[in-house]
Amino acid sequence: MAPSSLLIVLPLLTVLDLSTSHPTVNERRQAQLQPILGTAQQTPELSTFYSFFASTGGQSGVPGPALGERFDDPSNQYTLLAPANNAFASISPAFLEALTSVPAYELLLTLLLNYVLPQRLNLDEMTPKTGLEAVGGFMFDIESDGSIQTNEGVTQSAVPIRKQANIVFDQNGRPLTVPASNGIIYIIDKMLDPLITYFGEDAPGQALPPISRQPGTMADILRQHPRLTSLSPLLEQIDPDFVNRLSLYSTDRGVNERTVYLAPSDAAFRVLPSSIAESATSPSNHGANTLLLEFGLGEYVEGSPFVRSGLGFNITIDMGRANNARVQERVCADNGCVWLVGRWLDPLFGAFS
Ligand SMILES: *[C@@H]1O[C@H](CO)[C@@H](O)[C@H](O)[C@H]1NC(C)=O
Repeated sequence: MAPSSLLIVLPLLTVLDLSTSHPTVNERRQAQLQPILGTAQQTPELSTFYSFFASTGGQSGVPGPALGERFDDPSNQYTLLAPANNAFASISPAFLEALTSVPAYELLLTLLLNYVLPQRLNLDEMTPKTGLEAVGGFMFDIESDGSIQTNEGVTQSAVPIRKQANIVFDQNGRPLTVPASNGIIYIIDKMLDPLITYFGEDAPGQALPPISRQPGTMADILRQHPRLTSLSPLLEQIDPDFVNRLSLYSTDRGVNERTVYLAPSDAAFRVLPSSIAESATSPSNHGANTLLLEFGLGEYVEGSPFVRSGLGFNITIDMGRANNARVQERVCADNGCVWLVGRWLDPLFGAFS
C-alpha cells in the first residue's frame, strides 16, 4: 500500500465537506445520502475498514444483520470513527485474515461495534474527553486535538496506556468527515484496541516460570487451583462444553504434550471493573466472552516465540509474557498444561501499533 494514499484522497473528502455548506447542493446531497455503512462502502479511502464489516456477512458480500440492519436503520443516528486505508499498512496480512475468519467472528463484531457511537456528534460534542460510550459498550475519550483514547482509567495497567489514534484534520483544521443519511463518519488514522485498555497490560519480566506437574487433566487444574477461583465457576456457567474439552485426551501423545490453556487467574479478574461479574454472564456478552476465554487454548512447543491459539492467532511469548499478560505459573497435567496469566488475553495485542 502506498504510504501516500491517504494524502491522495484528502482533496476529494474536502470537496464533499465544502459542498455541504452550499444550500442547494446540500439539499441535493441530502437526498442522495446513504446510511452510514453504505457511505463507508462508497468512500474509497475506507475500503479496507468497510471490508471488515462486509466480512461479517460471509459470502454475501454485505455486512451481516447484526451490523447491516442495525446501522442502516434510518430512525437512529450514528457517528462512525473509521480508520483510513493507511491505518492498515503496517498490520500483518495473516493477522487481518485471522481477524476476519469465521472462528473470530465474535471478536470482530465486538471490535466493529466499538467504532460506532449511538448519536450523530459534531466535533465539539465529542471533545474534550467526555466519556462517550460506543454501541459495543466500551468508552472513548476524544481530546480537542483529535487524539482518541479508549477506556481511560478503567483498569490498572502496569504499562501506561497511550492514545491509540487521531481524528484526521484537513489543512484548514477541520475534521475530515463524510456525511451519511443517518449519521456522520470521521476519518481516523489508526485502528483502536479497546481490549488492551479494558484488560490492561502486565509489565514484561524475564523467562517463563518453571513447569510443575500433576496427574489428571487441565479441567482438574481449572477446578482445583486456588488462583483460578474466578475463572472456573464463570466457565462452568457460560461455557461448560469448553470445560469438558479441557478434560479430554488426544489419542496423539504429541498433541497432549503441546496443548496449553492460558487461563486468566484471579489477579486478571481483580483489575477488571467490578461490573464484569454481571456483564460477563449477560447474554449480550456471551459470544465475545466465550471467545476471549477460549482464545488461550492452543499449542506450544517449548522455546517457541508463539502459542498458536486454536482460533488461528499467534499469542506472542516474550519476556515472561503471553501477549499482554504475565505468565504467573505453569502446571502440566496428562492432557496438556495450564498457564496462569495475570490478565485476560488481548488477541489484538500489538497488532495495531
Ligand atoms: C503466526 O506465525 C507464523 C510464523 O511466524 C506465521 O507464518 C503466521 O502467518 C502467523 N499467523 C498469524 C495469524 O499471524
